[in-house]
Amino acid sequence: MAEIEKKLFLQVCDIKKSYGHVEALRGVDLDVYTREILAIVGDNGAGKSTLIKTLAGVIAPDGGKIIVEGQAYDKLNPRQALDLGISTVYQDLSLVNCRDIATNIFLGREPVKYKLFVDKKKMVQEAVALFEQLNINIPSIHAQVGQLSGGQRQGVAVARAIKFGGKLLVFDEPTAAMGVQETEAALSLISSLGKQGYAVIIISHNLHQVFSLAQRICVIRQGRVVDTVATADVTPNQVVSLITGAAQVPA
Ligand SMILES: Nc1ncnc2c1ncn2[C@@H]1O[C@H](COP(=O)(O)OP(=O)(O)O)[C@@H](O)[C@H]1O
Ligand SMILES: [Mg+2]
Repeated sequence: MAEIEKKLFLQVCDIKKSYGHVEALRGVDLDVYTREILAIVGDNGAGKSTLIKTLAGVIAPDGGKIIVEGQAYDKLNPRQALDLGISTVYQDLSLVNCRDIATNIFLGREPVKYKLFVDKKKMVQEAVALFEQLNINIPSIHAQVGQLSGGQRQGVAVARAIKFGGKLLVFDEPTAAMGVQETEAALSLISSLGKQGYAVIIISHNLHQVFSLAQRICVIRQGRVVDTVATADVTPNQVVSLITGAAQVPA
């Protein structure tokens, strides 16, 4: 079988963002590839969430460029980001708890039959197929989203993202509010997304998670990228040193 290559999907070039006197991002550069899980790590306040909000189009940077599949943008709006395939997966946000899974996946974009009726049967079939592709276990495809666990709700959000053209899936602390089993399921879902060819960014405080999932780790400190390293080339202690800015201990 031919070697499956990763491709450059998105580049962040010299992105800057200040909030009043706080320089949240001071010229960040980052390359994001398909078929790869990239972890972004850094202390509280380092600028991680600000960085991914610029990708999601939620905040406009003060300077720099975001280049998506070769096309450069000064800033994105949320609609543009989605159209370009950039999907931020929020755990609870944007799901309607009192509606079933298929309805949530297709929210606002329901398939229509005879130009008149919402094609519920098609929605359910496609929802089942998506959950099989993603290997997500759910009690029933007819369950209301409010009855699902945090991990399963995240699955619904991921299914919706990839159904509607998501190419880059961004997770900001995806397992922060999850129990042990939930976390395992969420991590295996994220890992499978990388293998299926999606570009994935995960922000996590948990270095064990980062090391088990990511192929590359980008370390941000005080609004700057300190280093982006291949996971295979570093130890967790070295990454901690990069995060805190402590002098490197000789190996
Ligand atoms: N909406 C905002 N208004 C003012 N300051 C903000 C805002 N959002 C973030 N900041 C500041 O920007 C810096 C980076 O924050 P953030 O990107 O949330 O960091 P991280 O996600 O790495 O913890 C912090 O100093 C934070 O206080
Ligand atoms: Mg954050």
